[in-house]
Amino acid sequence: MTANPLTANPLKLRRIDHVEFYVGNARQSAYYYRQAFGFSQFAYAGLETGLRTHTSYALRQGRVNFVLTTPLTADHPASEHIRRHGDGVYDIAFEVDDADQAFEIAVSRGARPAIEPHTLIDERGAVRRAAIHTYGDTIHSFISRRGYDGVFLPGFAEASAPGRNAGILRIDHIVGNVEVGRMNEWADFYSRVLGFSRYITFDDKDISTEYSALMSVVMSDESHAIMFPINEPAAGRRKSQIQEYLEAYDGPGAQHIALATDDAIATIGRLSEQGVEFLRVPDEYYDALPARVGEIEEPLEVIRDLGILVDRDDDGYLLQIFTRPVEDRPTLFFEIIQRKGCRGFGKGNFRALFESIEAEQARRGNL
Ligand code: FE2
Repeated sequence: MTANPLTANPLKLRRIDHVEFYVGNARQSAYYYRQAFGFSQFAYAGLETGLRTHTSYALRQGRVNFVLTTPLTADHPASEHIRRHGDGVYDIAFEVDDADQAFEIAVSRGARPAIEPHTLIDERGAVRRAAIHTYGDTIHSFISRRGYDGVFLPGFAEASAPGRNAGILRIDHIVGNVEVGRMNEWADFYSRVLGFSRYITFDDKDISTEYSALMSVVMSDESHAIMFPINEPAAGRRKSQIQEYLEAYDGPGAQHIALATDDAIATIGRLSEQGVEFLRVPDEYYDALPARVGEIEEPLEVIRDLGILVDRDDDGYLLQIFTRPVEDRPTLFFEIIQRKGCRGFGKGNFRALFESIEAEQARRGNL
């Protein structure tokens, strides 16, 4: 990777605070993320808490916070977001030292303002929030909580609806799909505005099958705690899976969220039992696996049964699996990943994985 000469962490990002999804029916989505993915609801904002415009459910598993928001009126901005994109990611929010400063510095480095700094307040204290635009209609909020001691954010009441915990610990990476020819522009945005560096680049020779191709660059903060790969479609004999996404989502947006576990077999076993649908690769993948990745600690039969993919680099290996899209539009999906030293993204799995994605694309009439 190349070090970014711009100062490290200029916006004083601490972590991904939460990911907010705009969805058509947050009550039902919350049930799905609880029962299938194992999140627990811990906070709620809506009519009962005095909010007239929208309803939000805050869910947590490990250090991962999801907010599911549904508009209550046609003129709420979420209504237009859902009309255009279907359910999807609206906000990848950061916790920062100082939201005002993060916003000011981001804008001075060329970010497009989305929400001016303002105070959210309730009886538990105050929080400052601002936001900038990133790809498509997606935003990055900056949140500083200084002394706020409520359950989540002002306006949210405590709510307790436990899910069936599956051992998800944190967000490993969030991938954005952008238009053809614009990957480098967005990589530059993350470098210039957030001080991220190019961690890994994949070109269309790494990521192509007989039919379709894509290019990808992984942008990362210095500690590799926040990793944002950016994909763009590349020319192939058939339609790129990225192009299918761009058409279904009607523009750029978050393609997948990778959720880290330290026990892939337990997590993936539990999620499968609870109804999460994963992509399968052909059985021959497992015949070739021992020769490709060498010795691993997990029993091969279990890896094969669960459909887990394995890849290795110089530092170790990783276990990963991908869900089918979680909406009817072929847009957002999830990855479950366990890193055992490996810092890569599963390059050795791209071909098998993308052939299985293309088989699904063909069934949808989109290849
Ligand atoms: Fe990924």
